[in-house]
Amino acid sequence: MDDLAGKVAFVTGGASGIGLALAQAFAGEGAKIVLADIEVGALEKAEESLRADGAEVIGVRCDVSDPESVKAAGARAVEAFEKIHILCNNAGVAPSGAMDETTPDDWNWCLGVNLMGVVHGCQSIVPLIKQHGEGGHVVNTASVAGLMALPTLGIYTATKYAVVGISETLRGELAPFDIGVSVLCPSFVKTQLNTSHRNRPAEYGPGEPDEFMTQILPTGTEPSVIAERVIRGIKRGDLYILPHPDLKAGFQARADEILAAFDLD
Ligand SMILES: NC(=O)c1ccc[n+]([C@@H]2O[C@H](COP(=O)([O-])OP(=O)(O)OC[C@H]3O[C@@H](n4cnc5c(N)ncnc54)[C@H](O)[C@@H]3O)[C@@H](O)[C@H]2O)c1
Repeated sequence: MDDLAGKVAFVTGGASGIGLALAQAFAGEGAKIVLADIEVGALEKAEESLRADGAEVIGVRCDVSDPESVKAAGARAVEAFEKIHILCNNAGVAPSGAMDETTPDDWNWCLGVNLMGVVHGCQSIVPLIKQHGEGGHVVNTASVAGLMALPTLGIYTATKYAVVGISETLRGELAPFDIGVSVLCPSFVKTQLNTSHRNRPAEYGPGEPDEFMTQILPTGTEPSVIAERVIRGIKRGDLYILPHPDLKAGFQARADEILAAFDLD
């Protein structure tokens, strides 16, 4: 997909961070945008600022962990713009803590958003892309934690490994429909992910900001840099979008250890 002008991009988690930067980058390419996000105040602000910059955009309140909510957001998008061409399954949250300290509520919340959110996008939005026959692209936001396990991020890591696996599966399934698939695996990006508990449903109890992420995220890459990299990845049809080449050695070490294990008796 090398020309995004006039196409429609549906971006979950589009009210903040990487999702908002993706929306801005799509708008810069002349695409129409559907922002789907759970945080109403941020969603309204994002919609207003994109519109002020001349974008054709709608904001839809959507909880990606709820299949009906994603379905309804898809219907709203089609009502507004007739078609969807690009799906960014990007909404995410990041509870932290050692595995033996994690709670069932932590798991249910994070699996619901980071894993089932992607599944719901595949189930409800991908058929809408297939339907018009013009092709399209799916971008799933995983993380470097989808390629390498990080201590104290066990739940997050589990969801992001799953998102990489789903993306690799999806590529073969969607190729006959001329729908490309990319999986985005960034390292640290300057966003609000450290305070993702702000959107933790009350039924799962309170959460708290992650101290390590609070220190490190402000030193991370600008979301706009990641978004431009995603645009290039979509245009080239890249499966893996890996914006941080400095992580190569870490992945190499993991791959080497796995390869060496095949030769053990
Ligand atoms: N920031 C990083 O360093 C980093 C690194 C690798 C991957 N990621 C991934 O990038 C994605 C975007 O996160 P971000 O860093 O921009 O954080 P962010 O908190 O700035 O943005 C996340 C967005 O997701 C929305 N959201 C949360 N729960 C939702 C739900 N149930 N339904 C719909 N929307 C929901 C939030 O309201 C927010 O707008 C996530 O999948 C995250 O795991 C981030």
